[in-house]
Amino acid sequence: MIYPATETYIQRAAQAIKQGNVVAFPTETVYGLGANALNAEAVAKIFEIKQRPYFDPLIVHVDSRDMVQEVVATLPDIALRCMEAFWPGPLTLVLPKSTIIPEIVTAGLDTVAVRMPQHQVAQKLIQASGVPIAAPSANPFGYLSPTTANHVASQLGDKVEIILDGGQCPVGVESTIIKIEKDSITLLRHGGIPVEDIEAVAGKISVIRHTQVEAPGQLPYHYAPKTKIVLINDISKIPDDSSCGAILYQKRDLSFKNIHVMYLSDNGDLRQAAANLFTCLHALDAMRLSVIYAEAIPEVGLGQAIMDRLNKAQARHS
Ligand code: TXA
Ligand code: MG
Repeated sequence: MIYPATETYIQRAAQAIKQGNVVAFPTETVYGLGANALNAEAVAKIFEIKQRPYFDPLIVHVDSRDMVQEVVATLPDIALRCMEAFWPGPLTLVLPKSTIIPEIVTAGLDTVAVRMPQHQVAQKLIQASGVPIAAPSANPFGYLSPTTANHVASQLGDKVEIILDGGQCPVGVESTIIKIEKDSITLLRHGGIPVEDIEAVAGKISVIRHTQVEAPGQLPYHYAPKTKIVLINDISKIPDDSSCGAILYQKRDLSFKNIHVMYLSDNGDLRQAAANLFTCLHALDAMRLSVIYAEAIPEVGLGQAIMDRLNKAQARHS
């Protein structure tokens, strides 16, 4: 059930977490499906509900520096600089794990992904639970990530007892994930903090080696609606057909009469585009169209995270 994220329901959700149950909650990026990260059985419920393969590790959400120190084995200088600059916020750090994190959380890896969310409801939930919360996005594995409580309810409503409603997620794409080893940083997933911003603080980032699936969010297809997605550069090639949908980068005068058009932004603002991405995809996917055309957008800053999601959505049907 969906409950408003008031103090009362946050407390109730925290109680559920302490008892080893799973709850859905808002973060600034997307909604998460959370359980006590220190309780292997509770975490197993997340995998069951999401139908997520056990080789795909989870992000551990913390609310304080002390809690970070409990879940990681070491905090290199680069990590401290990134935390200082971007936490709380949409940046996930992959670091050597401490022994209190069960294997199921990290899929047997000796590293753990950690992030301190900025969303007030997420922070309060972790605080009230008193434990780090392991949480993937609250969607069935491989499907579009949820950016509203209704998205969660329509996909997983019968499997999750408490869905805290904190409105629409302001960032709208998942966190950027980087792996930190001694003095080197590797990008594992584009996301809510542009790579350029991290490099300005922490130095050069090497991009993932594509031969190696380090973050299964990096599988060739993911984040996919049920409807076929076709990326398109020249929107004059889009057919004006009522069985089709189109997601366009920004508002403009068009002669389309029949096709269902949604806009990611008013004037090409990438933040606004990221925030609207999954909402537009969910809305058009629910219409059971034959194709959704998605206009390619500039691959700079947050545009990289958006294009990563659109490319993976397209890959599912090609
Ligand atoms: O914004 C977000 O990050 C959201 C919100 C809920 O915090 N969470 C999220 O979780 O996107 P999820 O499970 O959908 O994606 C987490 C990604 C996966 O691709 C997983 O493979 C990767 O993080 N990951 C987790 N632990 C890892 C580790 N130790 N090494 C490498 N990749 C890891
Ligand atoms: Mg996900």
